[in-house]
Amino acid sequence: MAIAQTASRDDARKPLTRPANPRFSSGPCAKPPVFDVSKLADAALGRSHRAAIGKDKLKAAIEGTREILGIPADYRIGIVPASDTGAVEMALWSLLGARKVEMLAWESFGAGWVTDVVKQLKLDAEVKTADYGQIVDLASVDFDNDVVFTWNGTTSGVRVPNGDWIATDRQGLTICDATSAAFAMDLPWDKLDVTTFSWQKVLGGEAAHGMIVLSPRAVERLESYTPAWPLPKIFRMTKGGKLIEGIFKGETINTPSMLAVEDYLLALDWARSVGGLNGLIARADANAQAIFDFCDTHDWVANLAEDAATRSNTSVCLKFTDARIQDGAGFAKAVAKRLEAEGVALDIGAYRDAPAGLRIWCGGTVETSDVAALLPWLAWAYQAEIDAQSQAA
Ligand SMILES: Cc1ncc(COP(=O)(O)O)c(C=O)c1O
Repeated sequence: MAIAQTASRDDARKPLTRPANPRFSSGPCAKPPVFDVSKLADAALGRSHRAAIGKDKLKAAIEGTREILGIPADYRIGIVPASDTGAVEMALWSLLGARKVEMLAWESFGAGWVTDVVKQLKLDAEVKTADYGQIVDLASVDFDNDVVFTWNGTTSGVRVPNGDWIATDRQGLTICDATSAAFAMDLPWDKLDVTTFSWQKVLGGEAAHGMIVLSPRAVERLESYTPAWPLPKIFRMTKGGKLIEGIFKGETINTPSMLAVEDYLLALDWARSVGGLNGLIARADANAQAIFDFCDTHDWVANLAEDAATRSNTSVCLKFTDARIQDGAGFAKAVAKRLEAEGVALDIGAYRDAPAGLRIWCGGTVETSDVAALLPWLAWAYQAEIDAQSQAA
């Protein structure tokens, strides 16, 4: 049983050690520890992405993704425009409308997909939402419907605990935004028909490109159903009722950045060097656990995710629980500002639509020693702000 501790005068002293890398942003996330721009020298720059050299690299990015994430051989993997947003939009606009839709949302990105489906596609969807820190009733989901959800809610730090709640014999499709989960959490591919993520998240790659993973059932839907609305070229995965197979072999819809591709290949190599998916999950778990332990031993800070089973191991969101704090948003901003000014943590303020607090990225590119070094600074900044608030009163 953890012993709660209020801030002591020790916390008021500036710690001696700073994190070697203060990058704890939830996207773009820290580059892999081995990253150096000189390692991108082999990029196929100034060459056509349709030339053999470009196509080979794009194919290596797809097959490396399959290898590390353990994606089944009969699933298609495509590199698509516009990062994770592009991949999700492409799925929603291409697949929905064939049957009833159920939308699950418990933070801002999931809520954005609800808006798209209800207000833009104007579908009569069943919408289930929960407040920040909570999750919807997963047991109530009807898998006769197409179900759209976010595996890890990046802005609340709440994730689904696993895929057990998803029916294996479902009639509808599951469409999962897994951008802050892929490469940090186990994704049960047999339960996921469409999965999306971007390079800029867990592997610390560059923004701009998204990835879409399609199960055979998703492909079947694409080939048997044509939506009632027009589809822009960058969303189109079929031609004449057949899947454009080339997209899933590296023949991208439009021009990709070969520099970003090289960077992703480097990140995949690094992922292999730390033990692949299991190694990445262990790194994220260790990072998040360091923060969970800190919350257990300090009674002025708590995880925003209420149920421990739903606590993210990537985007760990924290709230201040000290009753003396008068202006929650102002306090959290001031703490983040102090930490940034000290060069110990960059970009850790809560997402703009989320409750006041902090969000500390714990994906595998972050070193556990850096998380451990940050935490005494968090205690210091908190105490400094409490003192500043009482002096101002
Ligand atoms: C859950 C989730 N979905 C979508 C996005 C948008 O990703 P991108 O900017 O890569 O398109 C983010 C970005 O943080 C996210 O966390």
